[in-house]
Amino acid sequence: MFLGDRADENDNFNLPLYSLPIEVTMTTLANTPDLSNLWMPFTANRQFKEHPRMLAKAKGMYYTTVDGQQILDATAGLWCVNAGHGREEIVEAISRQTAEMDYAPSFQIGHQDSFRAASAVAKMMPAGMDRIFFTNSGSESVDTSLKMALAYHRARGEGQRTRLIGRERGYHGVGFGGISVGGISPNRRTFSGALLPAVDHLPHTHDLSKNAYSRGQPAWGEHFADELERIVALHDPSTIAAVIVEPLAGSTGVLLPPKGYLEKLRAITEKYGILLIFDEVITAFGRLGAATASELLGVTPDLMTLAKGISNAAVPAGAVAVKREIHDTILAAAATGIEFFHGYTYSAHPLATAAMLATLGIYERENLFQRAADMAPAFEVAAHKLQGAPHVIDVRNMGLVAGIELTPRPDAPGARAAEVFKKCFDKGIMVRYTGDIIAISPPLIIEESQIQEIFHTIGEVLKTVA
Ligand SMILES: Cc1ncc(COP(=O)(O)O)c(C=O)c1O
Repeated sequence: MFLGDRADENDNFNLPLYSLPIEVTMTTLANTPDLSNLWMPFTANRQFKEHPRMLAKAKGMYYTTVDGQQILDATAGLWCVNAGHGREEIVEAISRQTAEMDYAPSFQIGHQDSFRAASAVAKMMPAGMDRIFFTNSGSESVDTSLKMALAYHRARGEGQRTRLIGRERGYHGVGFGGISVGGISPNRRTFSGALLPAVDHLPHTHDLSKNAYSRGQPAWGEHFADELERIVALHDPSTIAAVIVEPLAGSTGVLLPPKGYLEKLRAITEKYGILLIFDEVITAFGRLGAATASELLGVTPDLMTLAKGISNAAVPAGAVAVKREIHDTILAAAATGIEFFHGYTYSAHPLATAAMLATLGIYERENLFQRAADMAPAFEVAAHKLQGAPHVIDVRNMGLVAGIELTPRPDAPGARAAEVFKKCFDKGIMVRYTGDIIAISPPLIIEESQIQEIFHTIGEVLKTVA
């Protein structure tokens, strides 16, 4: 699809209508929308609108484009459709709910499924992390968790603990809190004057001279956690509220946690009364072959941010799971009335709770987290076959996540991976890229033959890329 139905001076289309084959104009123009009004997120808008890639349908492991091309979804949408697309139980639950009660406010009034959904989420969390606050996205979950950390310390009479520690290359969504603790420079620099003032960053743990071609957790890199001691000494622990990290950083290009690293962060934060927040927006709900990265790695944070797989992305939804003690402290400190001045019009939206209940039911009935764990070895072998392919300088993996790092073109970082992305799409495989790293994170229902197809196609495409 290369056309809008209206061409005016704002459009970027160069193709005049009369240059198109008659069958294309006849079959597609009637339904083709004007592309000029929509400002697309995290997108090269001008390039996209010159060559749009339009999805129309999704079922199981596949998308279908408006032109009818089948696309194997190697990224679970944006790391979120863990149970595969178009699951009937979820579709039915949402349809039933919208007919029965389309919306209910969550401030000072409730609906029963919001409590059921909280219990269902709590059941999948590490022991003790069973107080659940609903949001609508990962970004909202992150900002909510940071505010909870500040509220907790204030409730304990330590309101001076306001400093937050993130990590270089961390991605925590796009709220002001999230970009402040996040460590991806393009996401920060435009807004640098308006970021939260009391924030430090740990170093990231990625060093290909030491941990290239890691299968699972790299053996090297635990010592990066010692940097937290340095930051603590610099500011004094009594000023620090929380440390937030992704157990496995996805959006920044699949950075794996070195062995012992998260354990050390846990020990240091505990020693100084600092809260530890795991941003599990992509790692929770089976991505690594367990309910959470925390469960898999045996390190329990104080707060955990959730979104994406929580509703299989069928309705926007997110949550923060909180240790009971944190919740109870905040509630106990409030005299009467509202204890935490925070929430969203759509917290626990009835369609979201319907989607969450149906989704979590599927995960449990189909034992999908175990399925991910069972498929992980074949996934690992297939991914690492790309070692030695043109431009590849690293392959790393954990659970059903793989990162394939390419040497950047000297004059155009990111361009090589962008070309791989486009060529894979043309060959019917949807991958993602960040900089020059290709990220693979398929739905947990993937079959072994589809795993082979994904990595084989990437290999073939790499041979054609300069
Ligand atoms: C770790 C992490 N945190 C937060 C977010 C932001 O989530 P959302 O885009 O739903 O706001 C993402 C999104 O990819 C993420 O990977």
